[in-house]
This record gives sequence, structure tokens and C-alpha cells, in this order.
Amino acid sequence: MSELRDLMWVEKYRPEKINEFINQESTIKRLKPIIKNSSAMPHMLFTGPPGTGKTTLGIIIAKSILGDNWQEYSILLNASDERGINTIRNRVKTFARYADNREKIPFKMIILDEADEMTNDAQTALRRIMEETSKSCRFILIGNYISNIIEPIQSRCAIFSFTRINEKELVKQLELICKNENIKFEEQGLEEISEITNGDLRSAINLLQSCASLGDINMKNIQKASGHSFKSKIEEILELSLDNDFNSARIKMSELTNIYGLSEKDFLKYMNEAINKNKYKEMKELIEILAKYDYRIITGSNPDIQLTALLAEISNLRKTE
Ligand SMILES: Nc1ncnc2c1ncn2[C@@H]1O[C@H](COP(=O)(O)OP(=O)(O)OP(=O)(O)O)[C@@H](O)[C@H]1O
Ligand SMILES: [Mg+2]
Repeated sequence: MSELRDLMWVEKYRPEKINEFINQESTIKRLKPIIKNSSAMPHMLFTGPPGTGKTTLGIIIAKSILGDNWQEYSILLNASDERGINTIRNRVKTFARYADNREKIPFKMIILDEADEMTNDAQTALRRIMEETSKSCRFILIGNYISNIIEPIQSRCAIFSFTRINEKELVKQLELICKNENIKFEEQGLEEISEITNGDLRSAINLLQSCASLGDINMKNIQKASGHSFKSKIEEILELSLDNDFNSARIKMSELTNIYGLSEKDFLKYMNEAINKNKYKEMKELIEILAKYDYRIITGSNPDIQLTALLAEISNLRKTE
């Protein structure tokens, strides 16, 4: 077991087989026959909220269909890490072309994570790549928002919508981890973690682990582990924005919301507390800005875009002096 897997419970407890996977019953039900008779596997598109198993399931499918050779015959690319569609095109083409003895496997697999962060132009190019390589390759595209995926790609894929992990299963999974790690827990504590992380199992496991580093899993430690660290991070984000360091603020915000699963509602709540506590000279403007984005988010605008715009607007405050 690698060091990372030992260190981080999200990795240590990442399912390796389909029967270790929890929730997402309707997705699993549709996938089982495809895994059995893989020659009929379509391109697939996994969408849904963070920490619900999309990437994990992509890897499980590659393992189930490609068997022992899965690492040789599949690649996992992160669309937002790769520099533009040309890099993806080159990597996919080289991978598709690379000479092999494919009698052992039905096709090669390309798992493209965070595909919804690709620009429309890049997605149009991706659609062509999918067509050009469709004899030898199958794609699993993954993203949080299906609305960000262009229609021609959607129509070429079987779409699987992942749902937030329900409280009962999430608590059961946390309980299993506690028992395995010999951590004392209160049932109410596990329910509280479920409540805070809102069906995002990655955030729930991360919070469980930071709480366990303080002691037992009880309400007091959970509050310490969740509130304090979020609050100080948001204060830091606010100060970075006020210092006009928009980029660092944006990266830290994205880490909180995407990796730790902090909801946009809590983000705004903690920011409001930070503004009130620190009494910046721009307090009035800050509250007005916060109220504007609070309203936009409530009315259903994309929270990621709105929180980024909020930081952009705060970053401009001292610039215009
Ligand atoms: N359905 C699930 N069954 C068991 N464990 C899960 C499940 N979903 C998530 N997990 C846990 O959460 C971790 C993160 O899951 P994963 O990376 O698959 O999420 P994701 O849906 O791809 O999230 P994101 O949209 O943020 O990329 C896993 O390593 C695993 O520990
Ligand atoms: Mg993922």
C-alpha cells in the first residue's frame, strides 16, 4: 500500500470493486450488464455532485473490463490539468494508435475527468477525437454539471447521473471506517458529519479524519475540525482578495468548495462572519457585494461562477482607490 493510501482515508477507503461501492443503485444496475457483456459498452458520461463516486467508478469499470491489463489499456486524463485540447488530442491519438495485442481486450479506455471544465471549442474537438478513435477506444467522460457538456457529446454517450450519498449509507460507511481505525465515535457525531457535508462522501471522510486527529468523534471535536478550519481559511481568502491577489483567493476558494465540499451557503455565512469580525474600512461595500451574490446563488445561478465573481469584485475594491 502506498504512503498516500495509508495517510489519507479517502484513498485508503476508495472502493476497488463494484460490490464495495455504495449508493448509486440505478447507475450500478444499468452498468452491471454492460460490464458482463463489454462489447456493447457505449461511451459514457458520468455527472453529478462531488464526492459521490464518479472517478472511482470509472476506474472500477476499467479494471473490470480490461482485467489485469487495465493499466496498460486505459488512461485517466484530467481535462482541467491538461493544457488544452491539443495535449489531449496528442495523448489520446498516441494511446489509440500504440501497437498492442488487443485480442486480450475489447477496446482501450479513456477516462476524461472534469470534462465539463473544457471550453466548447475543446469539446467540439473532443467529439471529433471520439469519432476518429471509436473503433479502438471507449470514453468515460466525467463532470459535475451536465449542462456544461455540449449537446453533440451528450448524444454520443450513455448518461449516468450520480446522486448525493444518502445519510443512512454515508453514516454506515463512516462507522465502518471508525471501527477499522479503532476510533471512538458517537452516532450523533457521524450524523452531524453527514449533515455538514451534504452527501459528499469525500468531504465526509476528510472531516472524519481531521476530527479523529483531535480525539473521539463527538460534537465538540467536529465543530472544532469543521468550523475553525473553514473560518480561518475564509478569512484568509477574504484578505487575499482585498489585497488584490485574486488568483490565490480563487484557488483557495476552489479547494474549500471542491475538495472539502464546503457549501456555497456556508462559504457566504463564514465570509459574513469574517467581515463583521474584522471591521475592514470597506465593510459597507463588502456587505453589499456579499448580499448581491447571496441573492444570485439563492436564485439558482451556478455557485462556482458566482463565488469566483464575488472574489473578483472584492479584489477590485482597493484597486480603484
Ligand atoms: N459511492 C461510493 N462508494 C464508496 N466510496 C465512495 C463513493 N463515492 C465516493 N466515495 C469515497 O469518496 C472518495 C472520492 O470519490 P470520487 O473521487 O470517486 O468522487 P467524484 O464523484 O469523482 O468527485 P468529484 O466530482 O469531486 O471528482 C473515494 O475515494 C471514496 O473514498
Ligand atoms: Mg472525480
